[in-house]
Amino acid sequence: MVRRLLRRKLGPCQTKPFFLLLVFTLIICFSILTIHEKSDSLNHRHLELTRENPHSSINCTKILLGDKEEIQNAKLTMLTVNFRNLPQWTNDDYINRTKDCATFIKTRKYIMEPLSKEEAEFPIAYSIVVYHKIEMLDRLLRTIYTPQNYYCIHVDKKSPESFLAAVKGIASCFNNIFIASQLENVVYASWSRVQADINCMRDLYRQSSEWKYLINLCGMDFPIKTNLEIIRKLKSLVNGNSLETEKMPSHKEVRWKKHYEVIEGKLKNTGKDKSLPPIETPIFSGSAYFVVSRKYVEYVLTNGKILKFIEWAKDTYSPDEYLWATIQRIPEVPGALSSSNKYDISDMHAVARFVKWQYLEGDVFKGAPYPPCNGIHVRSVCIFGVGDLNWILQQHHFFANKFDTDVDSFAVQCLEEHLRHKALYQMEN
Ligand SMILES: *[C@@H]1O[C@H](CO)[C@@H](O)[C@H](O)[C@H]1NC(C)=O
Ligand SMILES: *[C@@H]1O[C@H](CO)[C@@H](O)[C@H](O)[C@H]1NC(C)=O
Repeated sequence: MVRRLLRRKLGPCQTKPFFLLLVFTLIICFSILTIHEKSDSLNHRHLELTRENPHSSINCTKILLGDKEEIQNAKLTMLTVNFRNLPQWTNDDYINRTKDCATFIKTRKYIMEPLSKEEAEFPIAYSIVVYHKIEMLDRLLRTIYTPQNYYCIHVDKKSPESFLAAVKGIASCFNNIFIASQLENVVYASWSRVQADINCMRDLYRQSSEWKYLINLCGMDFPIKTNLEIIRKLKSLVNGNSLETEKMPSHKEVRWKKHYEVIEGKLKNTGKDKSLPPIETPIFSGSAYFVVSRKYVEYVLTNGKILKFIEWAKDTYSPDEYLWATIQRIPEVPGALSSSNKYDISDMHAVARFVKWQYLEGDVFKGAPYPPCNGIHVRSVCIFGVGDLNWILQQHHFFANKFDTDVDSFAVQCLEEHLRHKALYQMEN
């Protein structure tokens, strides 16, 4: 029929019908291809996070470039009544809206397919310890979410019931997000903080033998790299781990030389001496955050010596800040480093976490490790402002801590827009 139509229209050319038909077919094929390509990029366009907030005229491109005027603009906008009165999603909103998962996933723009073959073949496991701020958790999740990864969320036993129900609501919409099978009452600086991660570690280990690395997070972390960037870096570690592990400063030794107890919800030094640690390796100093291989996790969960060390550490102060750092220096542990101080790794060298400590901030041209905080300090840690982004994004870390939409919502918004765009349009090679 096409041929007849063609003949009628192109009467004088009837002598070369096959040639014409070939050209015609090629043209059709070409247009189908272009239409397909267009709809593909349209597909991606609706997953962009730009202009999600119609009330703001802040240009995130400028913010990320470190444009002083736009940073000032963002700060002024956040002070306005209109901005302060913008509705936020509450626990109840999440409980309600996750009843219809398809709509929730669509409106919150979760990406439901691996963005590349390379990523699909390299799943990561996440342990996320949270206690409040459901919207921050949702925004963190949708930025790191991919269907091939695994996410265990530990919700503090003290958290309001509605918060737990909201997290359960979100988890119910994804078959690779789940709540830890055992929940702890997390007391500041106590063992419970480590136990929360161990509970998720165990669940994740049982859940799947697919994932290759484990990364732990808290609710105020936010990524500064895309999933693809993270897995490429993980591959370059060649089964190694990446976490802070340094010589223990002598003033912190009291933390594990004395017996501590939780009394009325607070961790207290009882003054009683503790036995020496049951390992030959000295105690090293580090942070609660790690990037460790599956083999490391398996060893920690099953090795008798490590389990003894874990048992010993339970009545000490802030065990999270030496336990992982020390295990990383025990020779038999997969991916471990020598306990020689020449192998010390600072938080700036490990990829796990970027944090700005108030007492180290200063002029980078005069030797400070990072410029001053553009947000506010809580317990000497910077909660980042928009003005921090330009510098942070030049660092090699996977995640930065802390972000809080109640302190600077543009810092989170500009970061999530940037990462989403990069993830959607990054080339596979
Ligand atoms: C945002 O700023 C960038 C860099 O100055 C500029 O190229 C872009 O057009 C701006 N976007 C909007 C929507 O104004
Ligand atoms: C739940 O959502 C529906 C619409 O999806 C709305 O009509 C209803 O008011 C919501 N309920 C609560 C308690 O927010």
